[in-house]
Amino acid sequence: MRILSIETSCDETSMALVELHKDSADGQTILIHSHMTASQAMLHAQYGGVFPVVAKREHVKALTPLFTALLDESKSSIKENEWSKVENLDEKIHKVKEILYRDPELSDDLVHFIKESKLPKIDAISVTSGPGLEIALWVGITFAKALGQIFEKPVIGINHMLGHLVSPMIQANDLRKKIDFTPIPDNSLALLISGGHTELVSIEKDSFGHYKFQVIGETLDDAIGEAYDKVARLMGLLYPGGPRIAKLAEKARSKNIDPVILPRPMIHSGDYNFSYSGLKTAVMYYTKQNKIETDEQKMALALGFENAATDVILKKVKNALVDTGATSLLLGGGVSANVFLRNGLQQIANDLNIELHSPLNALTGDNALMIALATFIKTNNSILEDESGSIVADGTLSIA
Ligand code: KG4
Ligand code: ZN
Repeated sequence: MRILSIETSCDETSMALVELHKDSADGQTILIHSHMTASQAMLHAQYGGVFPVVAKREHVKALTPLFTALLDESKSSIKENEWSKVENLDEKIHKVKEILYRDPELSDDLVHFIKESKLPKIDAISVTSGPGLEIALWVGITFAKALGQIFEKPVIGINHMLGHLVSPMIQANDLRKKIDFTPIPDNSLALLISGGHTELVSIEKDSFGHYKFQVIGETLDDAIGEAYDKVARLMGLLYPGGPRIAKLAEKARSKNIDPVILPRPMIHSGDYNFSYSGLKTAVMYYTKQNKIETDEQKMALALGFENAATDVILKKVKNALVDTGATSLLLGGGVSANVFLRNGLQQIANDLNIELHSPLNALTGDNALMIALATFIKTNNSILEDESGSIVADGTLSIA
């Protein structure tokens, strides 16, 4: 089964063309024909966060060039006799124009491309339908629907958080070739931490082999990544703030600088929920009352914030693992790149004698490869039903 996947939920335009190669009890081998991501992060850096209108505009610009580059790269691994020119071109151009009428630039680019090019055989197209920025999601969805008409193949909507959840099951030495995709272990819990989410999800399999997800804890206000980004902004650092704060905190640790003491909201709440807006507000007051000018002051604040943000996560994850008796922890989302947090989670995993599955660094952020893999999970590798008539962008789509 060969799948083309598209991700445009936030500030990365990403596409993957992958193929299920071998499917066995101990997992799947997946061939990656091509996987490419165009990041807009530099453009949003000045705003301190993602600016939705800019994100949408950039997805519109990036999609056809990315698709072109994706197919170019796939020429080396997909045989020549599997490529052909688009049939019934006029009818299809008409449909593409109809679907993409709101984005004439995207429509023109795509029409121009299909007139000139050969396309490979594929079996389905999948696209992130939520959660995320709705105007950004819509660009990917309409592009996927247009491709669905061109290829005459089903279009499937994928939950972005399911992508992050499966990302730690992808193992590879070289992400440009073959990857091993191990099954989600029985009795797993997932910690999904990103710019929009802080979630603890329990995973079960029903008698048909379908996964069932239940959100057992989540943030009641800001997500942890959002808190990192907002605190970075308060400190005059560029977006994305997570890696920048993490770097400062790491430096502070190596220099034995004392952290600024900050609150750990909800750490004793007795449930698995989180709250990060109070921590951000505490940092805001701190920056109003204290000078944050020298490198040492910045390092102390970054360290104080990271320690507080991480402590709450570690406490709740440990409680959830003990209470549920889960034997594996799956980690996913942009914030899972954070080394301090990963080390803390590894320590808990060692203490409780459970397995920690973390994504490869290249797959912590948003990418279409995880969306492709989530497609295999959602459809259970079976015949794919077309959803193109029903897919809508849902900014708050839940994984459960
Ligand atoms: O999953 P992701 O790429 O996009 C969303 O779906 O939101 O997550 C992006 C978030 C940003 O808030 C970014 O600051 C944060 O992940 N992030 C980090 C690190 N790397 C990225 N946060 C803490 N430490 C990091 N090393
Ligand atoms: Zn994400």
